[in-house]
Amino acid sequence: MAQTTKREKRASPANPRVTQPVKRGVAGEPGAAGGPPEDSGRLDSLLGLFVHELRDTYNAEQQLITALPKMAELAEDQELATAVREHLEQTRGQLRRLDRIFASLNLSPKSIKCAGMAGILEEGEELIGKDLPGSVRDAALIAGGQRVEHYEMAAYGTLRAYAEQLGLHDAADLLDETLQEEGATDVRLSRLAERRINAGAMQGVA
Ligand SMILES: [Fe+2]
Repeated sequence: MAQTTKREKRASPANPRVTQPVKRGVAGEPGAAGGPPEDSGRLDSLLGLFVHELRDTYNAEQQLITALPKMAELAEDQELATAVREHLEQTRGQLRRLDRIFASLNLSPKSIKCAGMAGILEEGEELIGKDLPGSVRDAALIAGGQRVEHYEMAAYGTLRAYAEQLGLHDAADLLDETLQEEGATDVRLSRLAERRINAGAMQGVA
């Protein structure tokens, strides 16, 4: 993951636990005295950047919720299809966690288009759209899925570190839960590939 946080620091006297969002320097957000409206999206502080990245990630998850059912449908291996469907449910929960974080900051869950996720999905769809044998398509689905998971792990690792830095420990806990889920999905896909699917793809069209 991109950034890590020494979470044990939070209980030390030098790092008192803060449960309220830090409003200082968040020009443009509700609660910022005299600030412009919420949609101005100013990036003049770490909190502004945190909110921007939250909205980007919110959009990434929304894109994934649209893409995952198609991926499950295309999977020939039933265990792979199940893993993708289960991750779809997980992703809906991850979106709800982001909703809770926006609510704790008194912000609407407005999303900003995540070009990174759009690119990863587009590349995956292009490959999967070719006329591939089922076993090779399954291997390609895993390759695309793992690109997605690593991209999300980078995003959530950074978001968690920002939340800790800002004293938003409840948000950091929620982001950490999602980060763990993304990591577990990545491991699950690796196991499927290495245990069976890559070997099947080696045979191609038998
Ligand atoms: Fe996710």
